[in-house]
Parts: sequence; structure tokens; C-alpha cells
Amino acid sequence: MPERRVPRRRRYLVCEPRHFAVQYAINPWMNPDTRVDVDLAQEQWQSLIGAYRSHGHAVDTVEPVPGLPDMVFAANSAVVVDGRVFGSLFHAPERRPESTHYDTWFKAAGYDVYRPESVCEGEGDLVPAGRYVLAGTGFRTTREAHREVQEFFGLPVISLTLVDPRFYHLDTALFVLDEGPEANIAYYPEAFSPGSREVLARLYPDAVLATREDALAFGLNSVCDGHHVFISPEATALVSELARRGYVPVPVDLSEFRKAGGGIKCCTQEIRS
Ligand code: ARG
Repeated sequence: MPERRVPRRRRYLVCEPRHFAVQYAINPWMNPDTRVDVDLAQEQWQSLIGAYRSHGHAVDTVEPVPGLPDMVFAANSAVVVDGRVFGSLFHAPERRPESTHYDTWFKAAGYDVYRPESVCEGEGDLVPAGRYVLAGTGFRTTREAHREVQEFFGLPVISLTLVDPRFYHLDTALFVLDEGPEANIAYYPEAFSPGSREVLARLYPDAVLATREDALAFGLNSVCDGHHVFISPEATALVSELARRGYVPVPVDLSEFRKAGGGIKCCTQEIRS
């Protein structure tokens, strides 16, 4: 019998895809010749927000800004633990102006924002997981930023090296299922260097391992509240395995966002207060 999993009410910050487009290519999924169907993107995004709300989660929104087509990917704006906000410094110059707008939101909501000195892209690469922060590097967030994160939160940072450019952010290859001391995760081993794979295997012997197909369908770009997993319906093997382990998969199709290399988690910033 699968164990009973307990959901915890979350607070998510999101940004409507009103100005979503693919205008530059900063990861292998992006091609500036691709036309984005903004109406479809809006519809898919609304279904994600609806799914969060109907499962009891609070959703806050930041106003989208014209000319910032990737601003919809709220996860990259910061990482928030215990009400402390570690801001972002984007790798791509095209995305750097997003920080100002997110910082304004955080300040208006009553938070101080720490401005990092090194390149780091929020929850895209910095994933709080119970007693650690799992931190990706290789394509975007730097090792220097990992050190800054550890100093800032006083949490041990586990640096993990990403090796496949299609999985350029940690949250494209890994997500957290349960927090607390017994945190567990799901991940795609081949996205990581051999040493990082070994680290993950040691820390999470019971992790859910995803297939290549699940990973390419953005199945690891999922959001879990401890019980429900908001997940791409195309990640079929992963959906079945999660159900077998006692989670409740909630399929949400964000396929239009894949044109920019994004999915469910990319669109979702968790505010842990
Ligand atoms: N086009 C965006 C970029 O390359 C996508 C960001 C996806 N966000 C994420 N958390 N993985 O920066």
C-alpha cells in the first residue's frame, strides 16, 4: 500500500504570459522563428492557476512587462526560504531587467531582497529541499552563487553539475516531492555529471528516477505540495510511478511554453514564509 502523503498549503508567485514570445535563443528549446500562440499560452497558464487554487494554494501575481517575453518564468526571479528573499542575476542580458520588476513586487509585499554578486537564476537552479539547498551549475547559476546562497540562508548547499544543454536549469531535471528532514526527490540521472549522480544517489536512495522521455516532456519541471504533483501529462511513466508511490498527479499541459524551454515549475515561484 502506498503511504499517505500530506499536502501543505503553498503560496505561489506567477506572472501572466501576456507578453510571452520567443524573440531570442538562450537555450536549445528556443528558436526565434517559432511563432507562439499567445491565446493558447494564456489558456494553458490559466489552467495551471486554476489547478493551484482548486487545490487550496494561494496565488499572487506580478504584472507582466512588455518587452520581457520570459518574465512568465517566475521561478527564476528569486529563491525564498523562511521569508528571506535571495534575488537573481540573470545570465542572459535579455533577461536581466526582469529582476527590477520582481524586486519591486517583493519589496511591496514586505520583503527585503538580497542582491547577489554572481550569476544565479532563482529556483531555476536553487531548489530548497528540507535540510539542504540543491544547487545546479553548468549552464547558468555559478558556483560562486552557490557559496553566496549558503552564506545567506545558512543552509548547506549541495552543488550539482548539469551536463546536457537541454536540461540547462536544475528544475528541468529534478523536483522536490517532500520537504522536511526526510525530503525526497524525482530526477533524471543522465542530466548530471557522474559525481553529481553519485551525490544524489547517496542523499536520496529512494528517489523517483525519471526516463529520458519523461525528462524531455518536462515531467521533472513539476510542482509538488507534498501530496499532489502538478505535472506534464506527457510524462506518462513518471505520472504512473508517482501514483504508485501514493502521490496524486494533477496533469496540466503547458506545451506552448516548451517553445521557450519552460514548463510548470518554471512558471511558479514558491514563497516560503
Ligand atoms: N527561456 C527561459 C530561459 O532560457 C526559460 C526559463 C525556464 N525557467 C526555468 N525555471 N527552468 O531562461
